[in-house]
Amino acid sequence: MNILAIDTSCDDTSVAISKKTTILSNVISSQDEIHSQWGGVVPSLAKRAHQERIDEVIQLCLKRAHMSFDDIDVFSVTYGPGLAVSLEVGVEKAKELSIKYNKPLVAVNHMVGHLCANYANQNIEKNVYPQLALLVSGGHTELVSVLQEGEYKILGQTLDDACGEAFDKVARLIGLGYPGGALLSKLAEDGDDTAYKFTTPLHTQKNMMFSFSGIKTAAFRLVQSLTDDGKKPLTKKQTQDIAASFQKVCIKHLVEKTEKAVELISPSSLLLGGGVSANLLLRKQLRTMLKKYNIPLVYPKVKKLCMDNAAMIAVAANMYIKRDEFVKSKEKLERNPIATIEEHPTWS
Ligand code: KG4
Ligand code: ZN
Repeated sequence: MNILAIDTSCDDTSVAISKKTTILSNVISSQDEIHSQWGGVVPSLAKRAHQERIDEVIQLCLKRAHMSFDDIDVFSVTYGPGLAVSLEVGVEKAKELSIKYNKPLVAVNHMVGHLCANYANQNIEKNVYPQLALLVSGGHTELVSVLQEGEYKILGQTLDDACGEAFDKVARLIGLGYPGGALLSKLAEDGDDTAYKFTTPLHTQKNMMFSFSGIKTAAFRLVQSLTDDGKKPLTKKQTQDIAASFQKVCIKHLVEKTEKAVELISPSSLLLGGGVSANLLLRKQLRTMLKKYNIPLVYPKVKKLCMDNAAMIAVAANMYIKRDEFVKSKEKLERNPIATIEEHPTWS
């Protein structure tokens, strides 16, 4: 069974083709060069770029998989969460294709996609539940209990900024490009993580909620004082030390709350997903924490699968198909920018 998947949830136009969970092609057209000059995603520009690129990305994806539309058995698309105007482009294209070629359509939740990126080209024991997932991206930070295949319960999520968003904002503050998460963590390698003290958010609270806006504000104040309110630039050493100290507290916060979830549900494994799952220090510290509980850490096999991509949507679509969760009336499918991982819309 060949699945063609589309993801236009934010600022990447991505199309993938899989044979069941084996990825045959995964094309991503990044818009970083458009948005970097604005320091963040500009919705109207994102929408236009998706519209301009979607057809050629689909054609390139088919070409790389040596297929034509006739070889596709199921179309799938991210319906949410994400940026409304971006999601719309992918949803409308997937509807159009599935109607034109008279093939079934599956609407996939983007966070389920990030979670399922772990199953792409990777053989993982899926049948021992519950599993725990830590999903950390530019828009989300959540701890999710996987009760069984396709059934999720959110144990905790961010009260304000997402972790990746905080990385991007602090990266910008210290003069790095957009998106800055990966650049910041690279810079942190040469920094002293004890140079500046940040308070770990919600440290004394037993719940599994996250908060990153306080750390971001503290970083802002620190930069203000080190630069004399912007009158002088930061030194290279200062930017490295801020990056290292900031990254340390963010990861400590993520690991602390994940450990609370581990103690609560005793999962068989921890699945990591979303752009921040590419962070090597996060993986290392989670692995150290999990050792105490003898729980394996699983993360997407390659970096491309950590970031927004359509391959993860194709892999997730397999599970929707297995559960018979097809879009019942294609004309009723709509994007949902605030979709949650727990829901099961039927579009009937
Ligand atoms: O999952 P993703 O590609 O898009 C969303 O769904 O948001 O995640 C992108 C986010 C950005 O905020 C980016 O800065 C962050 O992931 N990111 C990182 C790293 N690589 C990407 N954050 C920290 N460390 C990294 N190595
Ligand atoms: Zn994402």
